[in-house]
Amino acid sequence: MGLAGAHQGCAGRAGAKNVQPICVHIVGAGPGDPELLTVKAVRVLEQAEIVVYDRLVSPEILDHVPAAATRLYVGKMAGCHPMPQDQINALLVELAQTGKRVVRLKGGDPLIFGRGSEETLHLARHGIPFDVVPGITAASGCAAAFGIPLTHRGLATGVRYVTGHSRDGTLDLDWHSLADPNTTLVVYMGLANLPLISARLIGAGLSADTPAAAVAEGTTPRQRIVPATLGTIAQELLERDLPSPVLVFIGSVVALIGACMPARPAAIREARHAPPKLALV
Ligand SMILES: C[S@@+](CC[C@H](N)C(=O)[O-])C[C@H]1O[C@@H](n2cnc3c(N)ncnc32)[C@H](O)[C@@H]1O
Repeated sequence: MGLAGAHQGCAGRAGAKNVQPICVHIVGAGPGDPELLTVKAVRVLEQAEIVVYDRLVSPEILDHVPAAATRLYVGKMAGCHPMPQDQINALLVELAQTGKRVVRLKGGDPLIFGRGSEETLHLARHGIPFDVVPGITAASGCAAAFGIPLTHRGLATGVRYVTGHSRDGTLDLDWHSLADPNTTLVVYMGLANLPLISARLIGAGLSADTPAAAVAEGTTPRQRIVPATLGTIAQELLERDLPSPVLVFIGSVVALIGACMPARPAAIREARHAPPKLALV
């Protein structure tokens, strides 16, 4: 069966006599705040019989799952992979074949640096129907939490989401195209490689004075922001012990921290260094 044919939609429980796999819902849990779940995600979670979930899914979100449902944690932490991706893929197929309502719950949006597409491809190859419920990605959630516009007329005509993660210590990114002063960069999983990332961007021509900020645990009650510049952000983070997850914003729009919110949070007021041009417009 071709991949397109394998995805038969999620109309309801299929088959009458034999146990037939029904739709696996690949659901985005958003960046942390349970209020940032979509209405559809809540409905699907409330109907789940088995939930397979990741590390970045907050406990309050799991409260939507019925008490009788089975919860399977397959979360990954840097350098520690409790369950390899191919085993997660196989597990989803196995669970779907029980005929139970399976939800695969992933942080943020499942199709942005979430390996959700590897899971959908695997399900499709095995003829398992699935659907994807999008979630608010960390970039949008963290930007809104600290009032940073990702684009702004005159400052950024576009935004790029990039991974800062590398398996072997080398980051094969197109630094010259990334070093665009009119584009906002959002670096996912970039904490460990931040010295390399900032050095490469500066080497490719992006000014060391470009505003930058790191957001830790964005949209949760523990959220923190460290405003800096491209030239100083790596050192700023070395001097702090920021809890993961951490997202890094680089670009002129970062100077507008707080612009898109009614009041600046304490985390910004307490920051040791204000961003170069803290503008409230
Ligand atoms: C494996 S990626 C998953 C991204 C997810 N699919 C999304 O759309 O947000 C994990 C990375 O997302 C970022 N991230 C996710 N949630 C975050 C949060 N609440 N605050 C800061 N960064 C976050 C961090 O860079 C983290 O290392």
